[in-house]
Amino acid sequence: RPVYVLNGPNLNLLGLRQPEIYGATTLEDLRALCLETGARLGLGIDFRQTNHEGVLVEWIHEARTQARAVVLNAAAYTHTSVALLDALLACERPVVEVHLSNIHRREAFRHHSYVSQAALGMICGFGAHGYVLALEAVAALPPAARS
Ligand code: DQA
Repeated sequence: RPVYVLNGPNLNLLGLRQPEIYGATTLEDLRALCLETGARLGLGIDFRQTNHEGVLVEWIHEARTQARAVVLNAAAYTHTSVALLDALLACERPVVEVHLSNIHRREAFRHHSYVSQAALGMICGFGAHGYVLALEAVAALPPAARS
């Protein structure tokens, strides 16, 4: 089963959007980086982006039976979405939370994450490389956490 790499709102504008914070990497670059990393680690990758909260919820439901693990950058929904937290708690798959920027260095409203409560761990502040680190974390999980 593949690892679902799920991306939330405004990440389609990566590369154009506040490059001083999010870097010059585009979403397509990020997809290529994840596919390349998956190939290196022997992980199938299903990489997706949506601007819609309900679509993320439905993808997480799907992950429950279809995915090996979820790498999630929920973007702004990280800080607002109880619906996403509830979906993740029901998902029963390992979840690794990722953010390009260091959310703890930024505005106070970005310091709290609903996603973290359902995640094994969180990687933030390393830009696109954070996705590589997250996939390496998934690949290194013990079999019990993977099944
Ligand atoms: C983000 C951080 C969030 O606070 C923000 O709303 C985003 C992107 C990141 O990857 O750094 O859209 O998740």
